[in-house]
Amino acid sequence: MKIFKTKNQLHQHLNTFKTKNNTIGFVQTMGALHQGHLSLIKKSKKKTDITVVSIFVNPTQFDNKEDLEKYPNTLKNDILLLKSVVCDVLFTPSVDEIYNGKTVSTHFDFDGLEHQMEGKFRDGHFDGVGTIVKTLFEIVQPTIAFFGKKDFQQLQIIKKMVKKENIPVKIKGCEIFREKDGLAMSSRNTRLTKEYRKAAPFIYKTLKKAKKKFGTITAKELTEWVEKKFKKHPLLKLEYFTIADEKTLETASEIHPKKKYRGFIAVFAGDIRLIDNIQF
Ligand code: PAF
Repeated sequence: MKIFKTKNQLHQHLNTFKTKNNTIGFVQTMGALHQGHLSLIKKSKKKTDITVVSIFVNPTQFDNKEDLEKYPNTLKNDILLLKSVVCDVLFTPSVDEIYNGKTVSTHFDFDGLEHQMEGKFRDGHFDGVGTIVKTLFEIVQPTIAFFGKKDFQQLQIIKKMVKKENIPVKIKGCEIFREKDGLAMSSRNTRLTKEYRKAAPFIYKTLKKAKKKFGTITAKELTEWVEKKFKKHPLLKLEYFTIADEKTLETASEIHPKKKYRGFIAVFAGDIRLIDNIQF
């Protein structure tokens, strides 16, 4: 696996592939890699000729300084994991290499997708995500980019950005990868204490129960049912549970048989914020 820290080095390497008409698969990450990331890389390797992974903890998408400072950095182990799945190229730029001394995000209009759910609780988060995802697309110029559905709102926002800005890349959403007990894989899981880690599978268990109930009671009643479940939980604090239209991400007050819906959830396990979602 080749590792590059600068755009120039990466360009030089990728240009030799591009002239041969090879397809490039791209997996953007913030490091602290787990099986969920590796599943995206494996998909990319199946579908494209060369796979590029980036590890970059993007400061502009964090609204909480402590969350940024505490974001796990496990580069050595990440490199071992990437080698184990025979990743072709790793790009690990510095903040200056990406932002040229001006660490600010561009403002985007994602047609309202950015104001729903995570957008209500994480100020400027999606401007930061849009900025880094677009910048890395410009640098890598991938054929297909792979993103996990755990961050479903992020996935829809990236699809919207690519469409609105005519960025020539195909976006592929990949299924959520879960631990055996159902907890959605996340780099943040490593920061859970034993007690919270034991409690966290309650999130997906509740989502699965909600899926069973979906359609038998109204969306409002189902939301209240989930809220009640978490009120009774001794450790986990619900930030939001929303049933939303998959396309618009708007909260559903009525269910239309022709539309697709998902249940979206954000929960605090101590000071670790976990998100998950399920298709209804
Ligand atoms: O999902 C993430 O890990 C990040 O938001 C991403 C897409 C790598 C951009 O920094």
